[in-house]
Amino acid sequence: MPVAIRSAALNDVSAILAIEQQAPGAAHWTFEEYNKLVGSGVVLVAEEAGKLRGFICAKAVAGEWEIENVAVAAEFLRRGIADELVRELIRRAESEAASAILLEVRESNLPARGLYEKHGFREVGRRRVYYRDPVEDAILYALRFER
Ligand SMILES: CC(C)(COP(=O)(O)OP(=O)(O)OC[C@H]1O[C@@H](n2cnc3c(N)ncnc32)[C@H](O)[C@@H]1OP(=O)(O)O)[C@@H](O)C(=O)NCCC(=O)NCCS
Repeated sequence: MPVAIRSAALNDVSAILAIEQQAPGAAHWTFEEYNKLVGSGVVLVAEEAGKLRGFICAKAVAGEWEIENVAVAAEFLRRGIADELVRELIRRAESEAASAILLEVRESNLPARGLYEKHGFREVGRRRVYYRDPVEDAILYALRFER
């Protein structure tokens, strides 16, 4: 069955949270924070056979979008689902005339870094000792749109 990418609705938040809580590299947010982002930001979900397989969320501030989180359910990794989510987020940012998409990621998170690099994001900096538990640097990535 093909995976469909669509905007999240408020009644998707429980399933989003369930995926996020099982994804070790994901940022961890509360139910209320996701609820708020569904209303004020961009939250896309990947759905297959009526079930959510993954999600991506971003905030847009003055034309710069920032990816806040992306996660795919453990049983469905390496099937191109995150590829589809990132591709659709980029398409939407371009269609809304964003100037760039930014994000930060743990240095050791090679799956996520590979994902972003595959979609044209470039390393633009580092925040030393940015994460806790375990302590680690953040690598900053940007995808800038030429206009
Ligand atoms: C990162 C994550 C979202 C990728 O999801 P996925 O659906 O398995 O990724 P895809 O199958 O779409 O793969 C897309 C690309 O990502 C990269 N990638 C994904 N998993 C990888 C892995 N285990 N090792 C190296 N690169 C990987 C590859 O570049 C891959 O392209 P390829 O298949 O052509 O090699 C998933 O591993 C995840 O949920 N991780 C936990 C949460 C997390 O760390 N989120 C990032 C927060 S910043």
